[in-house]
Amino acid sequence: MSCKEKGCSECKSFRPKVLERSDSSCLLDDDATYSFVLCGASGDLARKKIYPALWRLFRDNLIHKETFFFGFARTPSSVREVRDNCKDYFQVQPGEEKQFEIFWTRNYYISGNYDNLSDFELLNKKICELETNSLANRLFYLALPEVVYKDAATNIHEACMSKKGWTRIVIEKPFGHDSHSSNMLTQHMAKLFSEDQIYRIDHYLGKEMVQNLLTLRFGNTVFSPNWCRKSIASVLIICKEDIGALGRKKYFDSYGIIRDVMQNHLIQILSLVAMEKPVTLHPDDIRDEKVKVLRFIPEVTIEDVVLGQYVGDPDGEGEMKQSYLEDISSDSSDTPTFALAVLKIRNERWDGVPFILRCGKGLNEQKTEVRIQFQDVPGDIFGGRTKRNELVIRVQPGEAIYIKLMNKKPGQSFEVDETELDLTYKSRYKEVKLPDAYKRLLLDLFIGYQTHFVRSDELQEAWRILTPLLHYIDKNNVKPILYKRGTRGPREADEMCAKNNYVYYGSYKWVANG
Ligand code: BG6
Repeated sequence: MSCKEKGCSECKSFRPKVLERSDSSCLLDDDATYSFVLCGASGDLARKKIYPALWRLFRDNLIHKETFFFGFARTPSSVREVRDNCKDYFQVQPGEEKQFEIFWTRNYYISGNYDNLSDFELLNKKICELETNSLANRLFYLALPEVVYKDAATNIHEACMSKKGWTRIVIEKPFGHDSHSSNMLTQHMAKLFSEDQIYRIDHYLGKEMVQNLLTLRFGNTVFSPNWCRKSIASVLIICKEDIGALGRKKYFDSYGIIRDVMQNHLIQILSLVAMEKPVTLHPDDIRDEKVKVLRFIPEVTIEDVVLGQYVGDPDGEGEMKQSYLEDISSDSSDTPTFALAVLKIRNERWDGVPFILRCGKGLNEQKTEVRIQFQDVPGDIFGGRTKRNELVIRVQPGEAIYIKLMNKKPGQSFEVDETELDLTYKSRYKEVKLPDAYKRLLLDLFIGYQTHFVRSDELQEAWRILTPLLHYIDKNNVKPILYKRGTRGPREADEMCAKNNYVYYGSYKWVANG
């Protein structure tokens, strides 16, 4: 295998195919038939995210024209019904109607049980009928509840592997609910598929600003000397949501916010912020570094955590009045809807720098960002009026990168002014329409680019860090602190940030530019 394909630490010549892609050309130029099978085709994820992403890939000519889509689910249904179910999530522009019809003619629907081999044999038969090319590649997406993963994966392996090309399988989080269950799932999958066939999706890895972390860190020299404990006081990674748990009560109540968001999305972001430079852009070189930094993180303990659960705001409107318990129609539950955890990285670069992960539902706004706060100015000659620099990577909404810095107040005065250097995408990249995370990740899946998918050892490390805490919470029925819906969450969380070297001044508000 040449360096180009595998990635070579000697010549650093690995250039993933993905770097060559544009927004309008298909990279799959072979003469294969592609079959995309969506297990869980009647579910929410399929309807809201996966079918719309497939349509956009098809519309933009990014996938092979010989691609067929198969919906598979327990519910007896039809392509017509699937199409009607998804209609609110498609944006079909004038002029695209004909292509939209063609997209649906390439769709099929098969109902079957995940634990029934003969249903998968039928599925296989249907796929084979359409595989008229000499090569045939298959992709299976398991948008399923965790309990049926094993059966579905086993039956796919038994009945549906491609005999004329490759087979890939995608699984959606949650990948287990603690280290043990996750390892069991990993072992089961490993018996059936090799790691390069398994794509564990974490859709945060498909977001523009999360992908940009690599470029920002390793494509600039301005940050590198300061990207360490000497200059950085603390790192805060936030995922706030204003929505509650309504509509997902069964799932959410058994998982809670730590398993739902922190264990995956926030730890993934952390690893990209904190990792060392990979040898090349090869997916395994990148993931090697992500795992390595996670291995330096000790298990989180309850002393470093604040848990919360929202209660209704009596003065709020509509859903805002509802507490978590009302949202899940239950009399009691200690499931946290808010969590803040302080992680330490015990390596040379980061020792002593708190990495604060903060996430929650029913809060005052929807926002995901990374805030890298620099140390105080040593020997401040401005009478203590300088405030810390902060590099903020705004993941959503409104992608932006800005640096909070001190400036001389313009004019006669010699006062210091708190302002920013601002790269707001909406004004800098006016013409660019950013693809949705699922569209990007599905394209990577077709191409076979695994960088933005979670490898089994990354997953294992993420669970290792949080499992003792999760077990402690469950075993001791730790009560979350109640916070009013539509607020910043428990006051104790802000106190924990302050205790961990994150200074909140409250004197500055960034205003989106453009
Ligand atoms: C999902 C979680 O993984 O991410 C949800 O299960 C959460 O609870 C969602 O709302 C947030 O994703 P996004 O892309 O809307 O920020």
